[in-house]
Amino acid sequence: MNQATQKDTVWITGASSGIGLALTKCFLDAGWKVIASARGPGELSALIDANENLSFVPFDMTDESQMDTVREALSAQTDKLDCAVLNAGTCEYLDITETNPDWKMMDRIMSVNFIGLVNSVEVSLPLLKKSPRAHLVGVSSQAVQAAFPKAEAYGASKAAIRYFLSSLRMDLKQYNVDVTCLLPGFVDTPLTQKNTFDMPFLMSADDAAKRMFTALKSRPFEYAFPKRLTAMLWIGRHFPKLWLSKLAPKKSSSTSA
Ligand SMILES: NC(=O)c1ccc[n+]([C@@H]2O[C@H](COP(=O)([O-])OP(=O)(O)OC[C@H]3O[C@@H](n4cnc5c(N)ncnc54)[C@H](OP(=O)(O)O)[C@@H]3O)[C@@H](O)[C@H]2O)c1
Repeated sequence: MNQATQKDTVWITGASSGIGLALTKCFLDAGWKVIASARGPGELSALIDANENLSFVPFDMTDESQMDTVREALSAQTDKLDCAVLNAGTCEYLDITETNPDWKMMDRIMSVNFIGLVNSVEVSLPLLKKSPRAHLVGVSSQAVQAAFPKAEAYGASKAAIRYFLSSLRMDLKQYNVDVTCLLPGFVDTPLTQKNTFDMPFLMSADDAAKRMFTALKSRPFEYAFPKRLTAMLWIGRHFPKLWLSKLAPKKSSSTSA
């Protein structure tokens, strides 16, 4: 991301915690005007009080009835968006060993992670088109590089984001809007703090945000990090039987039905 000159403006979703909060700090430090969104301000509250370049627009991305209000709130604050970082998301894991697995989870997770991101594009695109060279950034995950157990819902939603953004990149080229898909590895945030499995190469949110912010300067199509995890997942993708034998849960007496 370039050092902002005349207060370039970025909209960051999921800015109330974790990666989004850390990214908000990176953009503010580089002189950007930041419009932050989430359902509530959460950990952003103190930062908003202390920073005239930061404002908050509440947005539940799954609630289509809020979209006009959010579009108007963004337009009231800026006549163009130079960047939108669509980062908000959530994670749940499917437990197939339950008698009645929670299949509705697919709907919940797709509705937040995928349709929520699509709604955010719809809301921000008119203002992005008004920037001479805007940058639309979406947050997918390294989870799309190889299959993980229990990640049917989360992984599918992040794979949908990746394809959506790669297609959108084609259609937005004519408007000078660059599109980047970010694929982070494991980052220590409230989203992962509930995980009970090993998370190789776990990074802090500040470390992840700094890497993302630096990578965004060259507007890559995709940025997957850390590279050690990318290499591990490359093996998983190219040697799927080996990957399956290492990661697939073993059958126990409770899963024999
Ligand atoms: N942590 C990781 O290891 C990791 C790895 C790869 C990708 N990611 C992705 O990175 C993004 C940020 O995750 P994180 O780890 O920083 O998680 P986090 O700390 O839990 O932050 C999630 C953010 O999304 C917002 N959000 C959740 N549901 C929302 C909704 N319906 N409408 C609007 N905002 C909503 C939350 O705010 P409210 O609850 O206030 O709405 C919060 O600001 C997610 O898309 C996640 O999938 C994370």
